[in-house]
Amino acid sequence: MRRVQVQVWKTEKGETAMNGFKISKHLKLPPEAVAWVIGFLAKRNAGKTYNAADLCEEMLKAKIPVIVIDGMSVWWGLRSGKDGTGSGLPIVILGGEHADIKLDPTKIEKVVEALLQTNTSAVLDIGQLRKGEQMRVVTAFVEELYRLAFKYPAERHVFIEEADMFAPQKPFKEESRCLGAFEDLVKRGGNRNLGCTLITQRSASLNKNVLTQADCLVIGRTTAPQDKAAIQAWVEKHSEKDKHELEEWYDSLNGLKKGEAWVWNADEEWNIFKKVQFRERETFHATRKFMLTKHAQQIKLMDATEFIEKFKDKFEPKPTPKPVSKPEPHLVPEKATYDTKHKVLNIPIEPPVTFKSGETKRLPVPTQKDVDAAMETVRVNQTLPNIMVQQFKPTIQLSVETLQEPTSALGRVCVVLKNDAQAGGRQDAWTTKRITTHIRNHAWDDAGVEDAVNQLIRWEILRKQSNNYLRFYPQRIQVSETQTQMEV
Ligand SMILES: Nc1ncnc2c1ncn2[C@@H]1O[C@H](COP(=O)(O)OP(=O)(O)OP(=O)(O)O)[C@@H](O)[C@H]1O
Ligand SMILES: [Mg+2]
Repeated sequence: MRRVQVQVWKTEKGETAMNGFKISKHLKLPPEAVAWVIGFLAKRNAGKTYNAADLCEEMLKAKIPVIVIDGMSVWWGLRSGKDGTGSGLPIVILGGEHADIKLDPTKIEKVVEALLQTNTSAVLDIGQLRKGEQMRVVTAFVEELYRLAFKYPAERHVFIEEADMFAPQKPFKEESRCLGAFEDLVKRGGNRNLGCTLITQRSASLNKNVLTQADCLVIGRTTAPQDKAAIQAWVEKHSEKDKHELEEWYDSLNGLKKGEAWVWNADEEWNIFKKVQFRERETFHATRKFMLTKHAQQIKLMDATEFIEKFKDKFEPKPTPKPVSKPEPHLVPEKATYDTKHKVLNIPIEPPVTFKSGETKRLPVPTQKDVDAAMETVRVNQTLPNIMVQQFKPTIQLSVETLQEPTSALGRVCVVLKNDAQAGGRQDAWTTKRITTHIRNHAWDDAGVEDAVNQLIRWEILRKQSNNYLRFYPQRIQVSETQTQMEV
C-alpha cells in the first residue's frame, strides 16, 4: 500500500474542497483517495464508466486536476449537464468528435507539459485512432506525465478506460513499453502525487503486477470465473478474510445490479468493505447506443473558452514581440513624441489650445467631413483623444464626450465594447455582427465597423479565440474625464 501525504485543497472561494468524494448515498471516499490506485472491475454494461465518472465528477468539483484516457469516446459528457443541456464541469476535450483542441499524436509531450503547467483537467479522446496509434499516444502520454509530475507538483488523478488494453497480462512486443509506463504510474506514481483509476471489463486480461498494486477495488457484476480469479489474486494479497466467507462473496458478484458494486480498501487505516449503489451522475452519460439516436445532435457542451484559452496559451504560446526601439511608423502621427525612457508614445490629439487664465472654452468637435478628409490614423486621434502605444499594445483613452457621440467607426466600436463591459456583459463572445447590432441600437452609422474591429484585433484589444468569437480586454480602453490640454 502506498502512503501519500495529501494537501488540503481549496476552491476558488477559499473553502476546503477536500471533504472527500461522495460516490454513493452511503459512502464517501476520503480525500486521500486522489492518490490511490483504484480498479473498477465489472462485466460489460454493469456501470463501470458511469460509476467511475461519479468519482471523476467529485474530483473535478473539488478542483483536482484529472486526466481521462478515453478509448471509448464517451467521457466528453463530463462537459455537459445530466440531460445533455445544462452546464457540465470544466474539462478540456483533446481529440475526438467533441474536441476543443485536435489531438496531434506528434505533440503529445507538449500537450502533457501544458496540462501540468496549467493544472488543466482533460479528456484525451483517442477512440477514433487506430489501435497502434492509440498505443503510441498513451505510452508517450503516460511516460511524460510520470516524468514531469515532479516538475509541476500537484495531486492529480488519471482515469483509464479499457486499462487492460494498455497494461495487458500478456503483452505483445510493441505493447511492453506501454505496460512499462503503466507499471511506473501504478507502482511509483504515488511518490509524484499521481493516483489513477483503472477501468476494465476483463479483469483477467489486466496485468497482474498492475492489478495487485491497487489500493482499492470497486467490483461490480462479475460472472466469468477467470475474472473472479483475478479479483481473488488481489484479495489474497490484501485481505485475511475467511475463505468460506469469501467463496460466498465471489458467488454473490453474479447478482449485482447496474450501478451496484463492492468498494474494498483493506488498508487498516481505511478498512472499507461495503456494497453500495453508486449515486446518479451529475453530468451527461454518453452511451454508444444513445449517440446513434437523433437526440445526440442536441447535446450542448458547457462553454469552457476561458479555461481552454489558458491551456492553449501554454500549449501554443504566442510569439513574443521583438523588442523595439521605435514603434511602427503607420501608428505614429507626425506630432507624436516618443518617451525613450519609458518606451511610451504620446500622441496629441489636437493642437494645444491656449486659454486666458480663468476662461473656459470647449474644444471644437470635428465634423464627420473633417474626419473623412483626414488620414486614418488622424481620424482615430480626433475621436479618441489619447492613444498611448506601449510596446505595440496601445491603451485607448475615450473622453466622456466621445462616449455620448463618437464620430468615427473605431470610436463607435470602442464605446459599444466599453459600455457593455461596464454593464457587466460577457466579454468573450463578441462578433462583428453583435458589435454592429449594438451600434445600430444607438442609431449610429454602422459603416467601417469591420475595419475598426480588425484594427482592434491588431492592437490586441480584441482577440480572436479558437471558437472564432472575439474576446474584449476592457482594461485596454479607459474612459478619461479630461479631453483638453491647457496652457494657463
Ligand atoms: N449508479 C447508477 N445509477 C443509475 N444508472 C446506472 C448506474 N450505473 C450504471 N447505470 C446504468 O447502466 C448503464 C451501463 O453503465 P455503463 O455504461 O457505465 O456500463 P459499463 O460497465 O461501462 O459498460 P461497458 O463495458 O459496455 O463500457 C448506464 O447507461 C446507466 O443507464
Ligand atoms: Mg464503459
